[in-house]
Amino acid sequence: MKRATFRQLRAFDAIVRHGSFSRAAEEMHLTQPTLSMQVKKISNAVGLPLFEQIGKKIYLTDAGRVVHELCQDVFASVARFEMGVADLKGLKTGGLRLAAVTTAEFFLLRLLGPFCNRHPGVDVSLEILNRERMLERLRANADDIYVFGQPPLDFDIEAIRFLENPLVVIGPKGHRLAGARNVPLAQLLGEPLLMREHGSGTRTAIEQFFAETAARPKVKMELGSNEAIKQAIIGGLGVSILSRHTIEDTAGLVEIDVEGFPLVRHWYVVRPAGKKMSVVARAFCGYLAETCAAELSAWA
Ligand code: PGA
Repeated sequence: MKRATFRQLRAFDAIVRHGSFSRAAEEMHLTQPTLSMQVKKISNAVGLPLFEQIGKKIYLTDAGRVVHELCQDVFASVARFEMGVADLKGLKTGGLRLAAVTTAEFFLLRLLGPFCNRHPGVDVSLEILNRERMLERLRANADDIYVFGQPPLDFDIEAIRFLENPLVVIGPKGHRLAGARNVPLAQLLGEPLLMREHGSGTRTAIEQFFAETAARPKVKMELGSNEAIKQAIIGGLGVSILSRHTIEDTAGLVEIDVEGFPLVRHWYVVRPAGKKMSVVARAFCGYLAETCAAELSAWA
């Protein structure tokens, strides 16, 4: 194993996390043959296969499990080392790894701008993922801070609310209900509704609302992103319910005032319980506390 490189271990770990060579190759920005070669080198060094394939699924062998434990140890040590060095250097350098659910991109990037300008030496990475992949990263302790619309219940985490996330009814400019006040819910139910994909936090909140009100919307189409939904609304395919953040600065869309809306939700910063935060991560929380007037002092 002395010949194994850090990059090879990262490639191996990515395959384990994704359960897929193609998704791991995508994450690592490698071709699949290059990725397979990286893993083959570890496997040769160990002298045993690390994966076995049954049907389309890949499974870790016993040797693979041991190598994966080694990966976790190595990554944790390197992260501790980097954090220690960054702390010694203060905010002049260091990294901040953020991961956020898709809808958060509409405000998080704007929030990040002034923070990055204030600390030009800090290297910030932001992963924008659907909830399921966020959970994978949380499980793998891959990031410093996560932004969720609904903190996961079945993880040992700490979560603090920092911003409102109102879900509103959106239609095309000139829609017959635009401008009306407190439109009865029954009228919304008569409109073709565009919905986010399964696994979307926005969708879960909407489904919960309809379940609670025993209302049955006419779902016309399911689309995989906020942007696709916005374009479909502009194209006249229907109305939708999205976070108000998604329509700031978008021409061609209007908010429709429907009874029971907005659905009040919030954004949360999340970290694994007891995670030691770097100077940079703490500074970022301090910045969020100051910008969003959030109760984040304990993390800053
Ligand atoms: P989504 O999540 O972008 O997956 O819909 C947003 C949320 O949970 O509010």
